[in-house]
Amino acid sequence: MDTPRVLIHAHRLRRRVRQLGRELSHDLAGQRPLFVPLLDGCFCFVADLVRAIHHPDLRLHFARSSSYHGGTQSSGEPVLADIPDCTGRSVVLVDDILDTGNTLSRMSAALRAAGAERLLTCVLLDKPARRQVPIEADYVGFTVPDLFVVGYGLDHGDRHRHLPHVCSLAAPDADSPA
Ligand code: IMP
Ligand code: MG
Repeated sequence: MDTPRVLIHAHRLRRRVRQLGRELSHDLAGQRPLFVPLLDGCFCFVADLVRAIHHPDLRLHFARSSSYHGGTQSSGEPVLADIPDCTGRSVVLVDDILDTGNTLSRMSAALRAAGAERLLTCVLLDKPARRQVPIEADYVGFTVPDLFVVGYGLDHGDRHRHLPHVCSLAAPDADSPA
């Protein structure tokens, strides 16, 4: 499984991320939003997302959570780092993909404990087939099948993050963008 195949083209990503930006601009009006993106996977998504949001007082705090350690199976024990002070803020936790749900549920609990007045979750991709923890995100870009996906920030062993499309890793194919 080494050749990325396009699953969601860059132009569909652009359109959907702009829609999410409009929804969040509307829903966060009059509040004090603090976006907490989880690095490294959501660096493309959050960069496009925040530029599609209109708000006079949007703050960003990058955090880190890792549960893969180079493979394609989550270890189920995300390591969290860089939790910000969330007192009085509407916190929007942003991740690249909601898979087993371990990361989002643990991070949500940590951000509530850090004083979040309101907690919203926003993911580019949702892979519901692999859920272990009963959690849904408030904002979802696309629901994807049970495939390992890369590109637009997502990696496999730190490869493929730079691809402009979301791709699945599969057998070699003539349409490969790599
Ligand atoms: P969870 O804790 O199992 O929900 O996993 C969330 C994290 O696992 C995401 O932030 C990703 O970094 C990683 N992940 C899950 N599925 C994939 C995938 O298909 N491709 C790349 N990374 C993934
Ligand atoms: Mg991640």
